[in-house]
This record gives sequence, C-alpha cells and structure tokens, in this order.
Amino acid sequence: MARTHEGQVVVVTGAGKGIGRAVAERFAKAGANVGVNDIDANRVDEVVNGLITSGYAALGIPGDVSDSSQVRTMFDDVVKDFGTVDVLVNNAGLVSPMLHFFEADEAWWRRIIDVNLTGHFLCSHRAARIMAAAGKGVIINMSSGGATRAHRAFTAYDASKGGIEALTRAMALDLGPYGIRVCALMPGSIDTEGMSEAARNLRGENIPLGRPGDPDDMAGPALFLASDDACYITGDVIKVDGGMLSQQRSATVDIMPPSDFPSLDQVLGED
Ligand SMILES: NC(=O)c1ccc[n+]([C@@H]2O[C@H](COP(=O)([O-])OP(=O)(O)OC[C@H]3O[C@@H](n4cnc5c(N)ncnc54)[C@H](O)[C@@H]3O)[C@@H](O)[C@H]2O)c1
Repeated sequence: MARTHEGQVVVVTGAGKGIGRAVAERFAKAGANVGVNDIDANRVDEVVNGLITSGYAALGIPGDVSDSSQVRTMFDDVVKDFGTVDVLVNNAGLVSPMLHFFEADEAWWRRIIDVNLTGHFLCSHRAARIMAAAGKGVIINMSSGGATRAHRAFTAYDASKGGIEALTRAMALDLGPYGIRVCALMPGSIDTEGMSEAARNLRGENIPLGRPGDPDDMAGPALFLASDDACYITGDVIKVDGGMLSQQRSATVDIMPPSDFPSLDQVLGED
C-alpha cells in the first residue's frame, strides 16, 4: 500500500481491537509511526508485535484514557520515542453495559462519561500542547449515531457522544489558531465482533448500502482527515454509516421498501 503518511506520528486510543485496531494498522501500513493505546495491555502487545514483525513502526502505550497521570505517561513515551505527535485518534470508548434508565446508577453514568468524554478531553489536552509547539496537528474524535438519534438503554453513551460532537466544534475554534484541526468520525453499525452471516444480513436490511460496516471501513476516512487533502476541514463530523442516519424510516417499514425497487433488468430496459 502507498506510504501516504510516511513519518507521521499517530496515537490511536482503544486500538487493541475493533475500529481502533483497524485504524492503527492502516496508519502503520501507510508509513506512520503509531502509538497503540488500550486499557488492555495484552491486546496492545498483540497489535504492536504484529506490526513490528511485519516491518512497521509501532509503540505500545497501554493505559486508561480517563486517568490523567496515565495519559501524561502515554504521551511522554510517544514523544520520547517518536519525537512528536502529529495526529491523535480519540477512539477508546465504552459501549456497555446497556442499562435502561430505571436500572442505571451514578457509577454507571460516571464511568461511561469518564471514559468516552473525559478521555477525549484528557488525551486532546496533552496532544494539543505537543501539536501547538509544532504549529500543526490533527485530532480525530469518535462519535456515534447516538449523538443525533438515540439508542434504547444507552442514555450515558448517547450523552457522551453528543458531548463529543460539541467538544469537537469547541476545540476546533480554540485550536484552529495554533494550526490544529479537530474533526470527528461518526461510525454507523460496525461489525467489530464478527457477526454471523444471518445477523449481518438482518442488520444490512436497515442500512441503505445493504450491510453493516467493517472496522477497516473507518480507516480510509481517518487517513483522509489526517492528510493535507483535508487541510481546510475542521469542526466537522463525517458520517461513515452506509447511509443509515440519512434515512427517515427503517427499510422494513418504509412506504417503498427496497424489495419493491425496480429490478436492474427493468432499469436497463427503459433505455
Ligand atoms: N462498533 C460500532 O458499531 C460503533 C458505532 C458507533 C461508534 N463507535 C465508537 O467507535 C469506538 C470504537 O468502537 P469499537 O466498536 O471498535 O469498540 P471495541 O469495544 O471493539 O473496542 C474498544 C477498545 O477500547 C478499549 N478501551 C475501553 N476503555 C478504555 C479506556 N478507559 N482506556 C483505553 N482503552 C479503552 C477496549 O479495551 C477496546 O479494546 C468507540 O468510541 C465507539 O463508541 C462504534
């Protein structure tokens, strides 16, 4: 693959699995030096060892993004090894446990807000100082459709993601004068656990592009936002969801479900 991000120093949080891992691996293959963070140190070792064995540049920086002293150590280690931080991908996030509002308690609320929202703040706060010294940098936050349209039993998660979109805009204003762009990606339904074929098909029925996303579908947009091709984009949220958030009704209850669409033979026969 083309080494489009040669020498860029990129930190990806929550990169031990799922979307974060796919994004970290794609940056490394594009020539970046990647700081791989996760709260699970074993997963960090697995990802870093895999990358180094394949000839790519990676450094393990395990830690909890909601703990400011661990975050400081993570960024100090990256600067010591790679010299700077050009790109931060704030990806670490807690989805579970799901709790109905009446089952929820303060500890649940605080942990999800701490990891998802405060974690974005703490990592950005460290990274932005390093970026400001260099006069350039890109911060990519990870939102969710839950910022705009709610999930059932996800009050803390959806509130954290709404906060992330507001944080993205606010940071873009404060950091723009220092040469730092701040954007967010909004993943749709991404299959990070390896769904069965039947589950993928069922999920795909309600997605205009007909399938759930794969973790690697998030990597191209992340690399684009980190590149100079995106040099005039800041404060924005880019949807990467196969069209899911653009639809008003789910396909199964729509007035004209996709099963009623004209066949390709009918379409081509009209010419
Ligand atoms: N998968 C989806 O469909 C989807 C949809 C919308 C948004 N997102 C967002 O994308 C991001 C990644 O999601 P995913 O599905 O790949 O999740 P995942 O659960 O597969 O991976 C998340 C990783 O983050 C790590 N992590 C959790 N808490 C951490 C902490 N305190 N510090 C550091 N690392 C921590 C976990 O150990 C895990 O390896 C999350 O922010 C999530 O909210 C995912």
